[in-house]
Amino acid sequence: MQRMVSGIKPTGELTLGNYIGAIKNFVDFQEKYELFVFIADLHALTTIQDKSKLRKRIKDIAAFYIACGLDPEKATIFIQSEIPAHSQMSYLLECTSYVGELNRMTQYKDKSKDDSASIQTSMFTYPVLMAADILLYDPDFVPVGDDQKQHVELARNIAERFNSRNGEFFKVPEPVIPKAGARIMDLQNPTKKMSKSGDTDKGYILLTDNLNLIKNKIKSAVTDSDTLVKFDKEKKPGISNLLTIYSVLSNLTIAEIENKYTNQGYGNFKKDLAEIVATQIGKIQEKYNQIINSNKLNQILDAGLEKASKIAHKKIMKANSKLGLGRKK
Ligand code: TYM
Repeated sequence: MQRMVSGIKPTGELTLGNYIGAIKNFVDFQEKYELFVFIADLHALTTIQDKSKLRKRIKDIAAFYIACGLDPEKATIFIQSEIPAHSQMSYLLECTSYVGELNRMTQYKDKSKDDSASIQTSMFTYPVLMAADILLYDPDFVPVGDDQKQHVELARNIAERFNSRNGEFFKVPEPVIPKAGARIMDLQNPTKKMSKSGDTDKGYILLTDNLNLIKNKIKSAVTDSDTLVKFDKEKKPGISNLLTIYSVLSNLTIAEIENKYTNQGYGNFKKDLAEIVATQIGKIQEKYNQIINSNKLNQILDAGLEKASKIAHKKIMKANSKLGLGRKK
């Protein structure tokens, strides 16, 4: 069975973008692949966090993984920081990467534009930690949304460089970017990615949002001045984003949805989409409420930790030895 690895960082509540671009696909992939999914909590420390909120979000992501349909019998679910090999491998890969290539990472460039002196070092190096997260498990594929593609490319480059310096050691994985929904846009500013750090809370939908609030956010999403329900990413980014969300959540094609709302204007389209989104998130919230305070969640994370840490520990020990560290050849 081919292997997949992916993770989500607990820097804020999960958004509809995280669900559509990542978690929903993990649920499909667990049927066909050996899937490792983790909570990338070390990545949250690139900015200063409120400790109790961070701890809650870590558990929340684990609960949402299950609530969205990940099955712990099929997928291995674990918390990154509980496996020290991630940080250890990150250091070895820092010794295999260049400042120049990290400087080119778009997310770092965006964040450091204003004042790089007040940015933590980890904001610069975190793509290497992400490479470590991936390469430790020798996956064939890494399913991510569009914004993480560059980081997976970096992981590939680092793996190839390590292999050419030290002999075949890491599998070089392929990114898997969903055909639809790889970049869900902000509902108020549809030229910007939907993110938990958006300018206004009307721009993003959280998996924890109250269902009425979700409906209102969809209904007040920015559209365009004409009233055609037609996909045109350049000229009609708002409605195109809503069409994408509709299509992914309903399994209808964009063309089928366009046909359904011919000559109807935006009103009915938005009303129906609001129902679809609220109903699906409502179901997820029900399951989340059942699992969040149960003992089961800890058992799942313990089992995931046990399985993932064995693989990770073996790999880091072999990597140390490959580089001439320690005493064992
Ligand atoms: P993060 O936590 O920002 O996002 C988690 C996943 O959600 C996807 N995503 C989106 N997809 C579509 N539309 C959006 N608006 C949207 N917003 C987020 C992201 O592309 C991602 O797949 N560094 C990573 C976490 C990470 C990781 C890894 C991922 C750490 N180690 C190893 C894969 C493999 C991050 O910050 O993702």
